[in-house]
Amino acid sequence: MRRVLPAPDIAPQRLHQALRYAVLEGGKRVALAGAAVELIHAYSLVHDDLPCMDDDVLRRGKPTCHVEYDEPTALLVGDALHSLAFQVLGDYRLAEDAKTQLEMVKLLAAAAGSRGMAGGQAIDLESVGKALTVTELEFMHIHKTGAIIRASALLGARCGSGLGPRELGQLDLFAKLIGLAFQVVDDVLDAEGSTATLGKTAGKDAKDHKPTYVSAIGVARARELAQELRQNALDALAGFGERALRLRQIADFIVLRKF
Ligand code: IPE
Ligand code: MG
Ligand code: MG
Ligand code: MG
Repeated sequence: MRRVLPAPDIAPQRLHQALRYAVLEGGKRVALAGAAVELIHAYSLVHDDLPCMDDDVLRRGKPTCHVEYDEPTALLVGDALHSLAFQVLGDYRLAEDAKTQLEMVKLLAAAAGSRGMAGGQAIDLESVGKALTVTELEFMHIHKTGAIIRASALLGARCGSGLGPRELGQLDLFAKLIGLAFQVVDDVLDAEGSTATLGKTAGKDAKDHKPTYVSAIGVARARELAQELRQNALDALAGFGERALRLRQIADFIVLRKF
């Protein structure tokens, strides 16, 4: 990440310092499929925390980007990280051929866009104060969080994994299930975790009247659901044997994490 981010002494220095502030240190680094995914993720959090969205002051145990710098800088940090993600996909040779690499660009673009993460964020914001059904919640979560997690698995698979269509389908199913599990756990932790452990303000969803799995089905059932999703995700990897060890560890981490 340090290599792909502009040095802090390059002009405009304040923006470049803020970029590094938003990306380096902390974070789960689940998205090992690539720095590009991590940059999109970091951008989405900087914008998610802005006063016009979730209005949060704490992220990864530090003041959020707009609190540490200012709102216009945080907006530009998001813009610049978004661009940088696609620059990374273009700058480095990631796949065996150019056609596959172009597919990777399109895959991440679609996942971050209005039919993926940005669309999920729109649903999240327009759902404030509403009681969503479980089906509606699932639709929101699959977009706002699931799309990028799914893209990171599929991007990884295109970096010369040699997976066939059936295996790609199973990997996609795995990613969809853990993507959903990730946000179910995020909702549970928001309700049950402490600000100190989470590194972000706990209890914020209920305070903001956000519809979550906790508000829809309660904490206990949401926890069970996360475990069911984890089991189904692990089942989807059954045919992979030892090759999927890392993916199984990620599934466990996502569901068992405390932050
Ligand atoms: C944010 O969801 C999802 C994206 C940034 C795309 P949340 O709003 O629930 O995330 P936290 O709880 O602020 O981390
Ligand atoms: Mg949000
Ligand atoms: Mg938020
Ligand atoms: Mg949350």
